[in-house]
Amino acid sequence: MKLIEVKDYQEMSQVAADYLLSKVKSSNQLTLGLATGGTPQGLYEALINDHKQNRTSYQHVSSFNLDEYIGLSGKHPNSYYHYMNDHLFKHIDIDSKNTHIPSGKAVDLEKECEAYDEKICLHGGIDLQILGIGSNGHIGFNEPGTSFDTNTHIVDLAQSTREANARYFDSMDEVPSQAITMGISSIMKSKEILLLVSGEAKQVAMKKLVEGEISEHFPASILNRHEHVTVIADKEALAMVKGLELLNR
Ligand code: F6R
Repeated sequence: MKLIEVKDYQEMSQVAADYLLSKVKSSNQLTLGLATGGTPQGLYEALINDHKQNRTSYQHVSSFNLDEYIGLSGKHPNSYYHYMNDHLFKHIDIDSKNTHIPSGKAVDLEKECEAYDEKICLHGGIDLQILGIGSNGHIGFNEPGTSFDTNTHIVDLAQSTREANARYFDSMDEVPSQAITMGISSIMKSKEILLLVSGEAKQVAMKKLVEGEISEHFPASILNRHEHVTVIADKEALAMVKGLELLNR
């Protein structure tokens, strides 16, 4: 894992945007894996600003999102479908036919999971996967205890994850209890991974990622086995990490 240490959230977002833009500009065809949540919002804002200023085109880019809540339609303001349109897609020139988000309203959810992995495969896999991390170490919605062998699958959300995401809903009762997520194995097949980590709430997760053992109890730990991971983390997130040198290995 390679570490890029940055000052704060704003710098993390800009450095991530520059990284992603260099890939967008240097390739004829690119498949991105995208995340939602608070962490990548600044990255998406930076991409939108760049698109406004420099007209960087996304016509050759396809995207696959990590996850979606089960039971929320794309029209629901808290669905990740809605989030992606609102925070990125409608502001850039990516073709909506090339953007993919698993459907949390599919009649046959198992089939939806299989079809999602097949679609990623047909696109030749994900070139660059953007990830955030949950404070319990989840990536995508792969909660602690998820097998490292999982493909796209249905998950029960941990109570801590529902509580962390309740800030986007009117009440805790409205937070879905299940989601469809790319599995650990699906994520690990990405050619390259960019993990963004910011803020105090992620300090313990960051420490475990760097200093802890690789274990299904802490899903993000598997990233230590991937050959091409770059972590962009701010000072606050890194405050508890002693062995920073462990990262650039
Ligand atoms: C989002 C996702 C999640 C988040 C994680 C961190 O698509 O898959 O793993 O990256 O829950 O969320 P934030 O960024 O809100 O702290």
